[in-house]
Amino acid sequence: MSEQARASFGGKLSAILVAAGSAIGLGSIWRFPYMAGEHGGAAFLLVYLLCVFAVGIPVMLAEFTVGRHTKQNAVGAYRSLSRPWRWLGYNGVLGALFISGYYYIVAGWSLEYLVSSATGALYSSSESFSAQFDAFQASPRQAIYTIIFILLTHLIIIRGVVKGIEKASKVMMPALFIILIIMAIRVAFMPNAAEGYRFLLSPDFKEAFSPDTIFTAVGQAFFSLSVGMGCMVTYASYFKSNNNLTGTSMSVALLTLLVAVLAGLVIFPAVFSAGLEPTEGASLIFITLPEIFKDMPFASLWSVIFFILLTLASLTSTISFHEVITAYFAEEHNLSRKNATRLTSALSVGLCMLTLLWHFDLDFAGLHLQNISFFDIFDYTSANIIMPLGGLLTCIFVAWWMKPTLLRDEITNYGALKGRMFKLLYFTLRYITPLLIIYIFISNLGLL
Ligand code: PHE
Repeated sequence: MSEQARASFGGKLSAILVAAGSAIGLGSIWRFPYMAGEHGGAAFLLVYLLCVFAVGIPVMLAEFTVGRHTKQNAVGAYRSLSRPWRWLGYNGVLGALFISGYYYIVAGWSLEYLVSSATGALYSSSESFSAQFDAFQASPRQAIYTIIFILLTHLIIIRGVVKGIEKASKVMMPALFIILIIMAIRVAFMPNAAEGYRFLLSPDFKEAFSPDTIFTAVGQAFFSLSVGMGCMVTYASYFKSNNNLTGTSMSVALLTLLVAVLAGLVIFPAVFSAGLEPTEGASLIFITLPEIFKDMPFASLWSVIFFILLTLASLTSTISFHEVITAYFAEEHNLSRKNATRLTSALSVGLCMLTLLWHFDLDFAGLHLQNISFFDIFDYTSANIIMPLGGLLTCIFVAWWMKPTLLRDEITNYGALKGRMFKLLYFTLRYITPLLIIYIFISNLGLL
């Protein structure tokens, strides 16, 4: 185990900032509006909110416990508590690889928009924003920006845990909040904004109970909080022994929620105002946001500031799943930290190129799907299968298999904190969260 890998983050605020840095990213700003747009808007938001509390926070606390107690990478952490459970750690590393296979590409889009806002090209073109997005996707620039983003992540990780990760998170978070609030105020004055608020805030309960909405919202809760795939285990292995885990998980979840809701309050009024469709899909924010900026004074400047922040928010997330894989290689395969970082970055480039270059058709069991790419496969399987499954097994491990005293000790810092929430947490982890996840899996298979 290299010494640097077991460094620790600074004080109390640092733990919150780095964990929130991992959680807040494209998941809240890009994926949340895109999923909410496709799955019923307000109904989706309602289920997502419930999932954050009933599933996200408890699983995050369970992962914090395992990580801080064992002070190891995801695989080593579970293995040191019970050998067969190391597979739960491998599930996390696999999840991190799947996410790497497409997340860097979207982060690259944000980098491209940063550059084209700075050069003014985005706003001076005579093409619609949607046509510009399509043109960018068809050009080799997409691959170049993806690789640049992987390199940026690589450079931070190679500098080590404390210096790189902590510093990056501290700068961008407050700035991100401020710009989202400014944008939310700005869109309130756009024509037809009310329809956007209705879409996001007035739920259709029938829709909220559809298995599809619930399934996607649970996946979104896991994805946006970075739980169920070893990331919070790995990060908590760098926490200090006096960090309050319960307080940290609540702060992280609330900050993430706030960013997602703010992103929704920015995007949907703008979507309806510009006459776009909320079901636009993965390109939604890249088509909608320029519509907001274009009529503002200093359009390019606002746009540059926003995309700098989105890029930084994405970077604090990419370093967190990169770290899951890097810490695994360094500690489980005895690679130097530098070589582990290099290997992880090389794998990430390989996976992203696979996603960008290979599209295929699927003719299988009556399904005729055309032009499928790994983008959707990686996105769907990581958020909707690997992470919820990881979350379910984490509950079973922590609340049924592990000694309950271990959970209590970590939550109360060995008696230093009162741990008033402990009983509620234990009950939730033992019954509510796992049963909910099982129910959702089953109902999505159409068996209920
Ligand atoms: N939560 C991050 C986001 O919303 C994505 C992520 C998932 C990061 C899993 C790490 C692990 O952007």
